[in-house]
Amino acid sequence: MKTRFVCQNCGTSSPKWLGKCPTCGEFNTMVEELVERKKSRARPKSVTAVSLAKIPLMKEGRKSVGIDELDRVLGGGLVKGSLILLGGDPGIGKSTLMLQISDRIARSHGNTFYVSGEESAYQVRIRAERLGTDGIDINFLAETELETILSCAADLKPALMVIDSIQTIYKAQLSSAPGSVAQVRECGSDLMKFAKAHGITTVLIGHITKFGVIAGPKTLEHIVDTVLYFEGEKNQQYRILRAIKNRFGSTNEIGVFEMTEHGLKEVVNPSSLFISATASAGSAVISIIEGSRPLLVEVQALTSPTFFNYPQRVTTGIDSKRLSMLLAVLERRVGINVHGLDCFVNAVGGIKVFEPSSDLGIILAIASAIKNRPIEEHTVIVGEVGLAGEVRQVYGIESRLKEAEKMGFKRAFIPSKNALPNHCKLDIIGVEEVTEAVRIALSIRT
Ligand SMILES: Nc1ncnc2c1ncn2[C@@H]1O[C@H](COP(=O)(O)OP(=O)(O)OP(=O)(O)O)[C@@H](O)[C@H]1O
Ligand SMILES: [Mg+2]
Repeated sequence: MKTRFVCQNCGTSSPKWLGKCPTCGEFNTMVEELVERKKSRARPKSVTAVSLAKIPLMKEGRKSVGIDELDRVLGGGLVKGSLILLGGDPGIGKSTLMLQISDRIARSHGNTFYVSGEESAYQVRIRAERLGTDGIDINFLAETELETILSCAADLKPALMVIDSIQTIYKAQLSSAPGSVAQVRECGSDLMKFAKAHGITTVLIGHITKFGVIAGPKTLEHIVDTVLYFEGEKNQQYRILRAIKNRFGSTNEIGVFEMTEHGLKEVVNPSSLFISATASAGSAVISIIEGSRPLLVEVQALTSPTFFNYPQRVTTGIDSKRLSMLLAVLERRVGINVHGLDCFVNAVGGIKVFEPSSDLGIILAIASAIKNRPIEEHTVIVGEVGLAGEVRQVYGIESRLKEAEKMGFKRAFIPSKNALPNHCKLDIIGVEEVTEAVRIALSIRT
């Protein structure tokens, strides 16, 4: 089969690679593609559209992995014939997680097929030994050529196929190197067709770039059914698996795992990971919702006089632009000076907090750090903050407060616009303005 090079910017094609597109003038946009000769048909194919109601309903054929944290992220288990992309930082535990899943599926649903283009059979065997899996029903193949992998999979008919990783496999017809945009796209689309045609659930492990996105073309994320990201700080024990896209379940659902010597273990009560035992100045506990699950997270703030012309704003796990906005609200609406202070804000435990309901907690943590007054112990803070300093209502207040109650919290700051939930045993403090919340939480006059 012949190949050609097509500009990803304007679509210009060329028989050979060019550094600069002659039409649009962009550099490095020419990507190799296979040229398929389509036979011309004398007459168009006769097809008829059918009413959606007449299409028979089939069972989704979900396979439960048997790990609750993972099943929830997947929307109830692995769907037969679906294609899943799992991305994550180097060394975060992608291969470990997939080997554990392969083992679980092999035990409950028959054999599985693990293809590694990165590690030797010996390396994977050592890992399996460490994880305590006998690996009897896991078929292993160290191979990088796509055709060979697919013919082997067609013979095996596994319940689950894992490709570790999509960046290492290649299609022989393309001259581009494995991992290039052309190879990743072509291999991804062939694997998708294969998974659907043979009803084999397939997981592709994907490398991510230094910017945190899956390396290769964005089209890969479009063609797969589910995109999962494995995140977490490498120097911390816990890892978070997040569904970014899911055609068979809700997105943003998270699963929390702990990395141990014997592999990844699910964390049943994750809120306990993200809060520390004692209250101190600069710390506040917020209640966020990840997918369908409420989670308590401690936010820590530290401020100190700046030695530079521009004060530093450093965040971990919190959007730095959101922090700038909250600092402006604190300065202008509450009257607490922050312009001469370096400000460091951190979400405990390596979790990433992007929900606006965390605003009030972040503001109170910073105010507490500046005033050096701790917020009373066992207090949870929920509320979005607007530019006028108003506290806006949030969704899911009932489940947020229930989680706080479960974790032994006694008091909650919530937006006064939120209706008080029934049967709540917490002391509820409804606040309308940030100023009011700061005054009550720190027992000060603002
Ligand atoms: N003996 C051990 N005890 C505890 N944790 C270990 C042990 N050996 C490996 N690990 C953990 O496993 C991680 C490596 O896991 P794994 O190889 O599955 O990651 P990966 O995401 O597949 O990496 P890569 O991107 O290199 O393929 C290490 O970073 C470490 O956290
Ligand atoms: Mg790996």
